[in-house]
Amino acid sequence: MRDKADRFHSLLGEAEMIVDSPFGTTEKLQAICQLLSDAVPYYDWVGFYLVDAAKSELVLGPFVGQPTEHVRIPFGQGICGQAADRKETFTVQDVSKESNYLSCSPNVRSEIVVPIFKDGEIVGELDIDSHELSPFEPQDVALLEGICDMVSRLF
Ligand code: SME
Repeated sequence: MRDKADRFHSLLGEAEMIVDSPFGTTEKLQAICQLLSDAVPYYDWVGFYLVDAAKSELVLGPFVGQPTEHVRIPFGQGICGQAADRKETFTVQDVSKESNYLSCSPNVRSEIVVPIFKDGEIVGELDIDSHELSPFEPQDVALLEGICDMVSRLF
């Protein structure tokens, strides 16, 4: 990967073009998953969960990667559900050390979940699984939080 700061800066620009494109929300979320999955070698599963506020659950939305059995996740359960409760980015550099974890694949070693907010309320999350241990740096957090800020315009 070329210099990470440069690459991540251009990824933010590419994500903004997707968000501002004339496509529908589902297509845009799918395109952002594809962009991140193609661009970052250690982003092995990239997907969005959308909040079902009536049930306090997360519902699987567009994703790129292996299908997962975790299509609905109650708030509080797993890394995704904990991020929804905490209303902040949750980075787990080694999933084997996290007891409240919902495994999608034995290959996954680490995970980052970034909430998406609209008017102060959580409306969704961007979830990324990696097959590498401890791959997430402050630059990843900044990139993914920047993308989630843009994506909140779609809600
Ligand atoms: N590992 C997540 C479940 C979702 S999958 O990663 C796609 C969790 O613990 O919440």
